[in-house]
Amino acid sequence: MSEAKKRLSWLVEELWKHGYQYYVLDQPEISDEAYDTLFRELVELEEKHPELRSAYSPTQKVGGMPLKKFPKYKHREPMLGLQNVYTPEELEAVFDRWQEALGSAFSVVVEPKFDGLAIELVYEKGLLVMAATRGDGETGEDVTSNVKTIRSVPLKLREPAPALLEVRGEILLLKEDFRKLNHDRASKGEPVFANPRNAAAGSIRQLDPRVASARSLDLFCHGIGGIEGAVLESQAQMLEFLRDRGLKTNRLTKRCNNRAEVEKYYRDMEARRETLPYEIDGVVLKIDSFGAQRELGFVARSPRWAFAYKFAAQEGNTILEDVHFQVGRTGAITPVAVLAPVSIGGVTVSRAGLHNEDQMRLLDLKIGDTVVVKRAGDVIPDVQSVVVAKRTGKEKPIRFPTKCPSCGGKVTRIEGEAAHRCANIACPAQIAERLRHFASKRAMNIEGLGEKWIEMLLQHKLIEHYSDLYDLKAKDLLTLERQGERSAQKLIQAIEASKTTTLDRLIFAMGIRFVGERTAELLADHLLTIEAFLEATEAQLMEVEEVGETVATAITAFLSDKHNVSEVRRLLKKGVTPKAIERSAGKDTLQGATFVITGTLPTLSRSQAEAMIKAHGGKISGSVSKKTSYLLLGESPGSKFEKATSLGVKTLSEAEFRKLLE
Ligand code: IVH
Repeated sequence: MSEAKKRLSWLVEELWKHGYQYYVLDQPEISDEAYDTLFRELVELEEKHPELRSAYSPTQKVGGMPLKKFPKYKHREPMLGLQNVYTPEELEAVFDRWQEALGSAFSVVVEPKFDGLAIELVYEKGLLVMAATRGDGETGEDVTSNVKTIRSVPLKLREPAPALLEVRGEILLLKEDFRKLNHDRASKGEPVFANPRNAAAGSIRQLDPRVASARSLDLFCHGIGGIEGAVLESQAQMLEFLRDRGLKTNRLTKRCNNRAEVEKYYRDMEARRETLPYEIDGVVLKIDSFGAQRELGFVARSPRWAFAYKFAAQEGNTILEDVHFQVGRTGAITPVAVLAPVSIGGVTVSRAGLHNEDQMRLLDLKIGDTVVVKRAGDVIPDVQSVVVAKRTGKEKPIRFPTKCPSCGGKVTRIEGEAAHRCANIACPAQIAERLRHFASKRAMNIEGLGEKWIEMLLQHKLIEHYSDLYDLKAKDLLTLERQGERSAQKLIQAIEASKTTTLDRLIFAMGIRFVGERTAELLADHLLTIEAFLEATEAQLMEVEEVGETVATAITAFLSDKHNVSEVRRLLKKGVTPKAIERSAGKDTLQGATFVITGTLPTLSRSQAEAMIKAHGGKISGSVSKKTSYLLLGESPGSKFEKATSLGVKTLSEAEFRKLLE
């Protein structure tokens, strides 16, 4: 036991140290693999000895249960705002006032003004006990469990820790992660975030810490509210102190000795703005010496010793000339604003995103309106608002199309979803993506039919619908550029082989909204034949396990489109034969359990393990999610292992897995 205890506390220290090197200093000392190995060892040790697990172990970075609502938190010291200046003249006036009030020379610390979410972290005796939003400055919300999931936030400060430290900073979502998040949301038909700041705020205000955890947030510390047990004299010293204690500060911070240096810094930052991985909207200048800060004091709700020097707004006014509707690869129909060209921050803007119908209604947009357009970094411009005062009465209302602009198919909006969608499986705007899904491994499993083939086949009009695949002949393919006889033959064989399939695969292959692999399996299990599926009513569908109203509506929307049903019938006519899934009787020990496999297992091959799971009524999934029941873990696992630990998914060794089957 004492061996384990020693090893455990060594691992905790070691992992904190390497986390600091990596996340705060950006100077990793060991490889990611080595870190993962240590992390895994710690997870295992803690599983064996749960009594030794501390609340500040690096494994505890993922918060607990979802909350109903955030408790309020009153800041001991109010969190103030900054006064803004916009021009060199205004900056000069600030410097003049400082010169006059302080009498002697002073230096100024400058840093970027981060466009994120203000936060306060409270450390008592070195331990993180509270993280709260700014709120109205006096009272914020206790978002500790979410803030704990941010990688660069230490749960424990490095020694020697002060008795109390209230540190302030800004939570950010990197531009890259923002784009990914929005892309993901748009493809699911969820409303997108207008900018990284809203996305960061939305993530931190998630009631389920696992959602916050899945978004890669970061934090830059830039100040303190209160401190006990350490004496600090200046902003520069404080930043160094914070970094030494393990808190992340920004590298671009500088000390300037005069106004010219501040101006130069401002111009440098403005020039670098686009290339920075996070959004900034200006620079902040603060008198370095705390003594001088005290002398200057406060006015109303802002300090006299600090100012934000903001960049010119990336906004402009123009006329909304039209709204176009685009069909995305997944059938989502998005409105795009067509604008009278306007120059904003040196870039001509003539198109802007409108996201979805709700957003348009919210803005109360009409054709002919004067609108405020904003460029947010390198994100596509957004229509921010309507200048209602400029309305003449000649503006025209905008109607959302009821027919798909690409194929004329029926447009539906599923309850609870932001996006309108075209549900026609033959819609040309969606066909490439749909074919890719149709052919994919877990659907019809047509080996070799990847993006490139699909692209070529569509381009040469050799296919238009799924069913056309089954008419293809090797000689058709040979007419295409650079296609050898062998690859053509192979593809034809793979298409032929896909005819023998199962009902669940065929249903899944249709790419019906919300019908993933598992739902397809449940549907197939319940309905047994393709005929029954094609004729199923909403009520019948709702009888299927795990199928609720949303899924049932999506399926009926699909089935109510005649093109879709006749396409399925064509597939059947051309020889696609979906068999109902056979269950091995009596061996359903894993019924309802979903497995993910990672790494190399000691004796079983992956396909053997998969076959064993299926034979016992279990399901296999390619990626770890909240719904995963077990992660079957072999040697040198991939990132799935980390994901599973972070989600609290149970892991099994091969031996444990075999036991479970018994
Ligand atoms: S210092 C006494 N430094 O801007 C005020 N604030 O209007 C101390 N902000 O919500 C603020 N970057 O969260 C400071 N480098 C920076 C900042 C920064 C962004 C935010 C801050 C506050 C707002 C002030």
